[in-house]
Amino acid sequence: MNPLRIGVLASGRGSNLQAIIDAIEAKTLDATIAVVVSNKQDAVALKRAQQHGIPGMYLDPKSVVDELDPRVTYDQKILKILKEHDVELVLLAGYMKIVTPVLIDAYQSRMMNIHPSLLPSFPGLGAQKQASHAGVKVSGCTVHFVTEGVDEGPIILQSAVPVNEEDTVDSLSARILDKEHQLFPRAVQLFAEGRLYVEGRRTKILEVPL
Ligand code: GRF
Repeated sequence: MNPLRIGVLASGRGSNLQAIIDAIEAKTLDATIAVVVSNKQDAVALKRAQQHGIPGMYLDPKSVVDELDPRVTYDQKILKILKEHDVELVLLAGYMKIVTPVLIDAYQSRMMNIHPSLLPSFPGLGAQKQASHAGVKVSGCTVHFVTEGVDEGPIILQSAVPVNEEDTVDSLSARILDKEHQLFPRAVQLFAEGRLYVEGRRTKILEVPL
């Protein structure tokens, strides 16, 4: 069988993209990255793609400002790129832009996001800071399918980390990020194996592929 074709949307340093690349190269993830798209020209994620011979594209959000609904038009352009590269699964890996139904509908139950908290706690920006301020003793990260509500879709996998007395937001973020790098490739591999099945708000992990 041909490996699963992934499209990655990323805006920043791309350490989660790197974790996916590493898992593919280590053959623990049976997939190929067909394209990386960024809304930021200077995203380190694009450099990482280039270093590994993966097609990378910067799509300027300002190129659609004159349109009626720029966010929709922007996502239509992204969708075109994803289709041109035969992308089967989309990963939001530090993608700092809210995706519209154009992408969500086209990739229903085929688009994953990684978030640095144990959802549904601490959705949105600054999740690690929110957790730290709330004084929780445990936090972590979540991989979930993307739906219209931000950080709300069916949860696929979660991983927990302790929050220590002496933790700063930075030290907690680093501990969570380490877990993210393990969790995201695992979730993608489950998808590649055909073992994820969404029923309502839940993602079932099947012993045997459908
Ligand atoms: C990660 O913490 C991820 O959970 C969040 O954005 C950050 C992206 O980091 N959605 P990176 O660009 O993958 O290094």
